[in-house]
Amino acid sequence: MYRRDAAELNVAREQLVAYSARLVADGLAVGSAGNLSARCGDFVAITPSGIDYGELTPEDIAVVGLDGAEVDAPEVPSTETPMHLAIYAATSAAAIVHTHSPEVIALSASRDELPAIHYAIAALGGPVRVAPYVRFGSAGLADAARHALSDRRAAILRNHGAICYGRDLRAAYGNALLLEWLARVYRIALSYGEPRTLTEAQVAEVSAEARRRGYGTRRATRSAASRAPQRTADNASGRDTGGAGKPLGRVAVLGAHIVDVLGRPVESIPPGQGSARLTEIRATVAGTAAGTAVDLAKLGAQVTAFGAIGDDMLADLLVGQMRRHGIDTTGLVRKPGAQTSATMLPIRPNGERPALHVPGATALLDRDDLDLAALSGVRALLVGAPDALGGLVGDGLADAVAAAKAAGALVVVDVLRPGSTRAFDRIAPLLAQADWFAPNADQLLALTGEKELAAAIDRVLSSGTGAVAVTLGADGALVASRGSEPEHVPAIAVDVVDTTGCGDGFNAGLIAGLLLGASPVDAARLGVACGALVATGLGSDAGIADLDHALSFLAQTSPGPAARLRALAGPPAAAGIDH
Ligand SMILES: Nc1ncnc2c1ncn2[C@@H]1O[C@H](COP(=O)(O)OP(=O)(O)OP(=O)(O)O)[C@@H](O)[C@H]1O
Ligand SMILES: [Mg+2]
Repeated sequence: MYRRDAAELNVAREQLVAYSARLVADGLAVGSAGNLSARCGDFVAITPSGIDYGELTPEDIAVVGLDGAEVDAPEVPSTETPMHLAIYAATSAAAIVHTHSPEVIALSASRDELPAIHYAIAALGGPVRVAPYVRFGSAGLADAARHALSDRRAAILRNHGAICYGRDLRAAYGNALLLEWLARVYRIALSYGEPRTLTEAQVAEVSAEARRRGYGTRRATRSAASRAPQRTADNASGRDTGGAGKPLGRVAVLGAHIVDVLGRPVESIPPGQGSARLTEIRATVAGTAAGTAVDLAKLGAQVTAFGAIGDDMLADLLVGQMRRHGIDTTGLVRKPGAQTSATMLPIRPNGERPALHVPGATALLDRDDLDLAALSGVRALLVGAPDALGGLVGDGLADAVAAAKAAGALVVVDVLRPGSTRAFDRIAPLLAQADWFAPNADQLLALTGEKELAAAIDRVLSSGTGAVAVTLGADGALVASRGSEPEHVPAIAVDVVDTTGCGDGFNAGLIAGLLLGASPVDAARLGVACGALVATGLGSDAGIADLDHALSFLAQTSPGPAARLRALAGPPAAAGIDH
């Protein structure tokens, strides 16, 4: 153990004793019930089993590794150690508080959820789930708690207690107190009849406003990078996005939501009833809107998604996966009888990707499905696949774009299909309103009917679009705006596994760069970096971890632009409203 860890662990021991005493004083537990822990790097300091909190001393606190191995345990570590470790593995938690507090236990006996009775529930990530009853100390309870905590900082364990986490012990404990208070308010509200609760959008609005105001961060430390919490591998992969660290603000995507099922490597489809053994099969969230939504969420945007999906298992999978990334999916409309848009992709050994596609529900999105009020306050709107949106391409889409523009949003358009001049005629009014159009080169040529990219770019710009980014696969991208020559941004060479979703990665990076205030070319460089990262793994959601990671990757080949972008982004995201 390093000396720094030892010093941190000593502080954690003292704090655990202090907060244990408060647990009893605040009525969150009696005797030795409940338990608390704090993570210091690869170690977890945790209260021991069966010692009354009144008698607890710092020396009694146990230290275990992240795998549960005892490192220093004068007393038996808490029986709930597996649950604490499972939560550290699945979230960005730096401290965990488990209570046996009466209001939540009473609620858990008859309800499946603590609804949004008060806006402060935004600090916990939204309505708090009640996990099914499983015996204390079991792996099953650890699992149940982990599931219930998905995108939340608190959960209720049926007939047992509460489990909360935070970026430090103070925050975790504050969440436990808040949860108990909310449960009490809910019980009182029930005595008047069926209470009115807040919608998901209202809670999301509170989170966004709290982030904008920097709640939970003291003035003196708002820009102090050194105070930023340690990122765990899972945090970096985009989980636990419930409100914290969203420097790009609110962004909306509208359009194609597709489930991709990919397998690799596929040399050829076996004849007859033959079979072939693959090394990997994945199902991912994809499509010009949904794929970009996931990448944007990873890069630090609070994303709201609009689109049509089926009422099938693919839709459940898509929604569940998007929610895991903290995306607001209330704008996704299920169309009875339709299947969710889906693609099967047998990926060749060289990364090429023939596609077998069912267009499905995407085209069924109606004007009435769009809650335009949800677009107020967005900083960017990506219209992903207007060429696949059926009737909406007329007035409905124009209304959505107008609503976003009224809020001052950046409007970016990308297409899904190979393109034709007829399709171009249909989307031309939309492009005239757009700030950016970002098709790939083949699509742009097919849409405009031109033979040269320069002429095709001119056609788009002269129709009113603010700027064009044309992606060129392994050759990078061209960036052009009215009155200036197109500029080439080279690709970043990577070992390609699968290029599915590179365009979505590019769009997400471009939008992130523009929202940070970068120049168009620097924003496109971030786009190219994100596109290359997506190519390094199987599926649209591969490669990108977070903005910090994408900038470090870009810095390997373009240190100057990466430094400029980093200066705009500020230090890696500090915690949000986790107070
Ligand atoms: N083989 C590759 N190597 C490195 N970077 C790549 C590669 N393929 C794509 N990229 C990056 O990703 C960006 C977008 O890729 P591409 O041009 O293939 O988009 P697309 O055809 O629109 O893809 P999608 O089907 O996801 O919409 C490119 O501009 C490039 O920067
Ligand atoms: Mg594309």
